[in-house]
Amino acid sequence: MGYPQPSHPRETPILSRYFGDPEARTLAGWRARGGYEALEKALNTDPQELQTIVKDSGLRGRGGAGFPTGMKWSFMKPDGKTHYLCCNADESEPGTFKDREIMRWTPHGLVEGVALAAHAIYAQTAYIYIRGEFTEPYARVCAAVEEAYAAGILGPNAMGSGKHVDVHVHRGAGAYICGEETALMNSLEGRRGNPRIKPPFPAVAGLFGKPTTINNVETLTTVPYIIKNGAEWYKQYGRPDNPKSIGTKLFSVCGNISRPGNYEVALGFPFKDFLYDLCGGPLEGREIKAVIPGGSSVPILTREEAEGAIMDYEGMVAAGTMLGSGGVIVFDDRQDMVRQIARLTRFYAHESCAQCTQCREGTAWITRIMERIRDGLGTAEDLDTLVAISDGMSGKTICVLSDSCATPVMSGLKKFRHEFEAKIAANKSVVTVPGAFRASAA
Ligand SMILES: Cc1cc2nc3c(=O)[nH]c(=O)nc-3n(C[C@H](O)[C@H](O)[C@H](O)COP(=O)(O)O)c2cc1C
Ligand code: SF4
Repeated sequence: MGYPQPSHPRETPILSRYFGDPEARTLAGWRARGGYEALEKALNTDPQELQTIVKDSGLRGRGGAGFPTGMKWSFMKPDGKTHYLCCNADESEPGTFKDREIMRWTPHGLVEGVALAAHAIYAQTAYIYIRGEFTEPYARVCAAVEEAYAAGILGPNAMGSGKHVDVHVHRGAGAYICGEETALMNSLEGRRGNPRIKPPFPAVAGLFGKPTTINNVETLTTVPYIIKNGAEWYKQYGRPDNPKSIGTKLFSVCGNISRPGNYEVALGFPFKDFLYDLCGGPLEGREIKAVIPGGSSVPILTREEAEGAIMDYEGMVAAGTMLGSGGVIVFDDRQDMVRQIARLTRFYAHESCAQCTQCREGTAWITRIMERIRDGLGTAEDLDTLVAISDGMSGKTICVLSDSCATPVMSGLKKFRHEFEAKIAANKSVVTVPGAFRASAA
């Protein structure tokens, strides 16, 4: 019996291969599975060469934006300055629960990736910033770091290479916004976790004002496999007709689906097969109504759109959404989409850091209106107001949390407008006397 169910034959388990195998958690167990061979090789390789291999492999960031990892690393030059690496283990995007499983089952895989990346970007110090609520992942990663120090894998003479690599584990306090890379750096510095205006970008002035690279847990855990097996090996996974779609990706699946969980597939996998074959389709007697494919910040797909989508960055854009963090949320025909979208906007309103007016006011107003419509007190004008507020919230703020709140509203209104209208039509409090102003009892 695997974790929490055996791997499906159509999965490509690279990162998830040892999920469910408690022995892989220990240093001895990790080494017995080939662990730390890539780090040893990397510590004796010029960082420039490591950057080139990762660039050639086509690996893109798994934190949400899909930025090419090798290119990000190439911004870090041998300039003699202090550099930092930050590993983003804040994973708070609703519907996303893959990084925590990497940390729970293969913490040494993450520590190896972090140490390797630190060397590749000319840094001696790395921080792993873990979401506050992640009690078990935090304990596992701390234990792995301690074991690695005790074995001389980390420290002033890492693996006997003469290179200095320090890894610190920092636990956040449970704020979603601290997953945004510049807010994460502020939080690490002991400040309030507010996103910073860019530029300057982190590669120029990041943590403590020094050149910094920030990468996601899944991204960093993938790197040792690439260094060990080569860029060409990694390129065998993905969509042959899309050179930007390379490697495997972990997808977390939740909601109204028969077999929720984490699945690792090669990019380019047909989303229909994923939902119905790997995940077992909807619950008995139900039908899928809608899917959010990449964490709550990406546009909602109808069932028909989802069934035609390809699981990679470009495939999801072609379907009108984004791959995002790979958090797949499935809604079946019982779900009230207005209620579901209102839940999401409330989340963003609660998590807004409130620096930008458009976000602070917009997330709050959108939530009030969504909840009014949900409760049967909406008016037809509310729909226009929602569109106007959403428009004012997109592309105008310091970070994209504001856009993320507007996205489900805009896509929901486009695709499930009839559900909004049905609730409004049922609003008995609206005055319908011809010529009179329409009013809501709210
Ligand atoms: C509001 C907000 C929350 C975010 N949360 C996370 C997160 O929890 N984990 C993560 O890896 N990236 C998160 N990101 C993306 C990071 O800012 C950053 O792009 C990412 O860590 C870069 O790593 P990558 O290049 O390996 O993908 C978030 C972004 C925003 C705007
Ligand atoms: S968009 Fe929202 S969360 Fe992001 S910086 Fe502005 S107020 Fe803060």
